[in-house]
Amino acid sequence: MRFDKVIRYGTVVTASDTFKSDVGIKEGRIAALAGALTEADEIIDATGLYVMPGGIDSHVHLDQPSGEGIVMADDFESGTRSAAIGGNSTVLTFCMQEKGQSLREALRLYHAKAEGRCHIDVSFHLVVTDPTPEVLGQELPALVADGYTSIKVFMTYDGLRLRDDEILATLDAARRTGALVMVHCENEDAIRYLIGRHEAEGQVEPRYHAATRPIAAEREATHRALSLAEIVDTPVVIVHVSNRQAMEEIRRARQRGQKIAGETCPQYLMLTSEDLDADALEGAKYVCSPPPRDKESQSACWEGIEQGVFDLFSSDHCPFRFDDPAGKLNEKGRRHFRWIPNGIPGVATRLPILFSEGVMKGRIDLNRFVAVTSTNHAKLYGLYPRKGTIAIGADADIALWDPDMQITLTNEMLRHGADYTPYEGLAVRGWPVRVMVRGTTVAKDGHLCDSRRGGSYLHRTLSSLTRNAGNGNRNRG
Ligand code: URP
Ligand code: ZN
Ligand code: ZN
Ligand code: ZN
Repeated sequence: MRFDKVIRYGTVVTASDTFKSDVGIKEGRIAALAGALTEADEIIDATGLYVMPGGIDSHVHLDQPSGEGIVMADDFESGTRSAAIGGNSTVLTFCMQEKGQSLREALRLYHAKAEGRCHIDVSFHLVVTDPTPEVLGQELPALVADGYTSIKVFMTYDGLRLRDDEILATLDAARRTGALVMVHCENEDAIRYLIGRHEAEGQVEPRYHAATRPIAAEREATHRALSLAEIVDTPVVIVHVSNRQAMEEIRRARQRGQKIAGETCPQYLMLTSEDLDADALEGAKYVCSPPPRDKESQSACWEGIEQGVFDLFSSDHCPFRFDDPAGKLNEKGRRHFRWIPNGIPGVATRLPILFSEGVMKGRIDLNRFVAVTSTNHAKLYGLYPRKGTIAIGADADIALWDPDMQITLTNEMLRHGADYTPYEGLAVRGWPVRVMVRGTTVAKDGHLCDSRRGGSYLHRTLSSLTRNAGNGNRNRG
């Protein structure tokens, strides 16, 4: 067979195997894995490189309304550009339902935001903020059938949070349709109470963001979310877990037989609440929820990645400019942390950080790296085996990694819309020197090299976690 492209002399890494093989690509798909493929229009020399499935980041916020006068720093163009430079070939972003809005109407708006602007493939999770009988009973089943197979619910944030009975109704509807539910677990009432108490003491600087969202507020909400999921027998993903106690809740619920996926993020490995203590308003750069914790929590999150409590390592990229009245330091945010938009940029740094700190420092092996950054995302969110692996018939979504490349991270090189990175000056070993999406090289040596914005919208099948739910087999697959 003659191929469009052949990647030669590389080491292929999947979630389960590591082997020397050439990779033949034809019409955007992987067409051969064999010893010596030579017939091709283009030969890519991957000597000394790892040939991995492109990163799939299943937790990315782009172009979301985030409060009056606040503008998210990335739209679908800049966000997917930055993602590609950081080794990703697919991102799953959020389609946020406004109160009173139908999910269809929300989807129409988000498709318009993304259409023709994406450099890599994208798909949307539905954020349910108004779970009416119409939304849960009519819309959701039709949308799941159309390939919108995951939703997110919030237990915190005014205007987004659902009450427990609303969460139960949403979980119940998800069980009937096979949708996978992601849950943001923090106790809103506790947080609001603590904000009031600190406010009364005049404690309104960014550092008090962390103090008002303590570990117990996350642990309690995690326990409650898992209990609600158990009550209606529905699988859930506990997203952005920041500490050991929340992690232990996941472990225990699994031991009881519940189907659960767990996610953690780079900020919980690399940052602590001390970063929020930075001089004056600098701390605003690190305001995200749950907040970064302490060294012990970092160790716990590493353990969770190593031992399999966490299936997913995602960025929770949610970028706002720092020195900008439409960003972190907006008029009200300068005066009180509660008005600082929550979230930090990280779609480009997720993979290099885990590769460098995890693989190169011997904490995890290459296969685990691929599992938690790509394969598990594809399986849990209904993209597997088209995405998330190097196999014949899969999309040729490939990242070539140079394990010897040493890079010092700077904001400029990340090509996102934010004016800072929390990881400025961090030295990493290993870099994705080429990223392909369906056989087209999108990023190379840190530059975007295909300006056609050829990313596609991905309709998804049911999650590996929900597909077999309700058949009595409640063990983890
Ligand atoms: O602070 C964060 N994580 N902002 C993004 C929204 C969310 O809760 O995931
Ligand atoms: Zn969240
Ligand atoms: Zn508990
Ligand atoms: Zn998020």
